[in-house]
Amino acid sequence: MIEELPQLQTQALAELAAAADRDAVEAWRVKYLSRQGLLPVLLEKIKTLPKEQRPAAGQAANLAKTAINSAFEARREEFDTATVSAPDDPTLPGRPVQWATPHVVHQTIERIVQIFRRMGFAIASGPEIDTEFYNFDALNTPADHPARNEQDTFYVDAPADRDGHRFLLRSQTSTVQIRAMQTQPPPIKIIAPGRCYRRDEIDATHGVFFHQIEGLVVDDGITLADLKGTMEYFFKEFIGSDTRVRFRPHFFPFTEPSFEVDMARANATVKGKEWLEIAGCGMVDPNVFDNVSVDSKRYTGFAFGMGVERLAMLQHNISDLRLLYENDLRFLAQFK
Ligand code: DAH
Repeated sequence: MIEELPQLQTQALAELAAAADRDAVEAWRVKYLSRQGLLPVLLEKIKTLPKEQRPAAGQAANLAKTAINSAFEARREEFDTATVSAPDDPTLPGRPVQWATPHVVHQTIERIVQIFRRMGFAIASGPEIDTEFYNFDALNTPADHPARNEQDTFYVDAPADRDGHRFLLRSQTSTVQIRAMQTQPPPIKIIAPGRCYRRDEIDATHGVFFHQIEGLVVDDGITLADLKGTMEYFFKEFIGSDTRVRFRPHFFPFTEPSFEVDMARANATVKGKEWLEIAGCGMVDPNVFDNVSVDSKRYTGFAFGMGVERLAMLQHNISDLRLLYENDLRFLAQFK
């Protein structure tokens, strides 16, 4: 039987080399290597040899087996890789491509910005680490205002600036109003989207950071009618033309008079309530103009601020703010 081995090996290797495709290699495997294949059947015969011939036969058999197996592995791999990288078969179905998408909060910012752009607003920005001056003082916020409390605002553990103003993580994008008025004379018509920070307890509607869009318009003869028209146009564009908007008197240090803006949609309630509070706004307080040397005798203006997450949640019916920042792709991939 040892004599049959070399012949079997030669024949097997020749046939393997001639196999033209994956199917031929598989047919070859069945013929030679499967349980009833030529090689195992021949090897079985070793057991029937006289005892003294078995060691030599076993050794020869092992050598032949190794040679055949490694030749087989090599060929099989060849066809596997060939299939994976099969270049230009135009009849193959396309493979699905996973596109990343902008985060839903950024999609919302993008939409808001588009609407204001149509009304002629330019985009402005300011730093997230700012000073008390920009976040509070220049915005006419008195030293004892509760928002200045260390329980509400994150102060940065660093020396104060030259004028003795402490650094903080801005709690509102209203800071950008001040920077805009410092860097350009009226007319000013800007929006400022950006991130803000507050020391809130985290729950379904509060986080320690969130996004706001601030708006500021300063020019000759700007009136409350301009503010109302702008807000109404925005919310009808953003939410839907059946949106109603109302202005409820409120207090903000940097505007006078100030309002909270509520919105409602026909036949819709949010948590059982018809009206949902959605933004703050008002006419720029003359004290603010004086703080940045804009002529408060000549100019008037309006300002507004709104929360981006809240608008995103409203638009997409999202019930919990925390979902926005867990980075679960099953959630985020819904917003394309
Ligand atoms: N900065 C205010 C806040 O975070 C929102 C706001 C209210 C902005 C009135 C304004 C405004 O510009 O006029 O609650």
